[in-house]
Amino acid sequence: MEKYELDSSLAEEIRSRVFGEGFIKIVQSVKRGGEKFTISLRPVSIGGEKRFQAEMREGRSVQVKNFDMPGAAEGLDEIIAQKGARELHLITASGDLHVRTTKKGRSLVSRSKPMERDAAVRPHDKIKNLPLTSFDSAALLEAVGIAVANGAIRASMRPKYDQVNDFLRELPQAEDLKARKTETFTVVDCGCGKAYLKFAMYFHLTRNCGLGNVKVIGVDRRSDVIDAARKTAKDLGLEDKVVFEECDLAAFDVEKADMVTSLHACDTATDEALAKGAEWKARWILSAPCCQHELQKNLGSAAKRPIGSGGEFAGLLRQSILRERLCDILTDAYRALIMRIIGYRTQTIEFVSREATAKNIMLKCEYGLKPGLGESVGEYLSLRDYWQVKPFLEERLGPMLSRHLEKYS
Ligand SMILES: C[S@@+](CC[C@H](N)C(=O)[O-])C[C@H]1O[C@@H](n2cnc3c(N)ncnc32)[C@H](O)[C@@H]1O
Repeated sequence: MEKYELDSSLAEEIRSRVFGEGFIKIVQSVKRGGEKFTISLRPVSIGGEKRFQAEMREGRSVQVKNFDMPGAAEGLDEIIAQKGARELHLITASGDLHVRTTKKGRSLVSRSKPMERDAAVRPHDKIKNLPLTSFDSAALLEAVGIAVANGAIRASMRPKYDQVNDFLRELPQAEDLKARKTETFTVVDCGCGKAYLKFAMYFHLTRNCGLGNVKVIGVDRRSDVIDAARKTAKDLGLEDKVVFEECDLAAFDVEKADMVTSLHACDTATDEALAKGAEWKARWILSAPCCQHELQKNLGSAAKRPIGSGGEFAGLLRQSILRERLCDILTDAYRALIMRIIGYRTQTIEFVSREATAKNIMLKCEYGLKPGLGESVGEYLSLRDYWQVKPFLEERLGPMLSRHLEKYS
């Protein structure tokens, strides 16, 4: 027997307890080169089917994966075969098994007295509700550089991982997409960059939402990111399903889009994404804005105006950081009102925590309102005219918006 190897009868007992009745959890910690590596495996129910969920922790990185029975059996053999000083705890409804392997490789085994415990398998969704842990996303995460080869999330990419998960959560749910199962569902991602989100959306819509035929088009004006994204599509075997166009958004067109997304597309590219979404009659438009410079140029002079038309904000507008924040808020308020006027039910939400990104606002729009609602038009016109600005999105949409405004001007 090699150093640290578990006795074959003990290994067999572990296998039969894990795959027998009443299994609750096995967790093992092994010390490797000063780092502690912990892995746990427990049964979960996903869509009514029994699966096994493994959680692997090393340093600050955590990876969660779901396995079917053969996959879990392989994983358990790897757990058993791990080398190093270990602590293993196996919990079942009828009693526990504990193994401690010392630095010298000696294993000390103890078993609890027989007992009766509740071992009901909890539905997976209630435990961890991350879109990227609801299917095996290891290949995807490695291809886009969020995870390393063993599937562990890179510490530096954890904010991106959180952002993508949280963005996916805001997409229409499987229930909303039921009617679209057979037709092609087209998504356009505007300012796609290296396309983390685009690939994740493809997998999420096909695996988690059950759509059969999804096409995702990524648009970006930078050739280097488009080249990199095309290579990723090839590596994942998705060249026909996830495609890229090197193009300025303003010049890009498609016949129809079911959903338009943009994640931190710079400045007025967010407005361009909203406008394109409306022109392509997308039912859903989800846009997390980025830097917003456009309004700042126009608001600069407001401090010099009389009280009642901006002058009372002089003290705020003099402070560049506060002016910038005010412009961000106003820009998103104008966008939300404009989207409502043209028929989109629009919510402004924080889609991800502020720790993950300071740019955590999302405009979440779904078509379905009667266009031209007087209340929205009134609110828009009074806010616009108070600050004496003409938001880019108003100009960009042209008659699609102006015909509703004219009735009230
Ligand atoms: C901050 S990056 C975000 C990339 C990606 N969505 C993400 O979140 O990782 C913004 C991207 O938008 C692209 N972009 C900005 N304005 C654009 C425009 N008018 N047309 C096409 N792409 C644009 C930039 O080239 C850049 O790749």
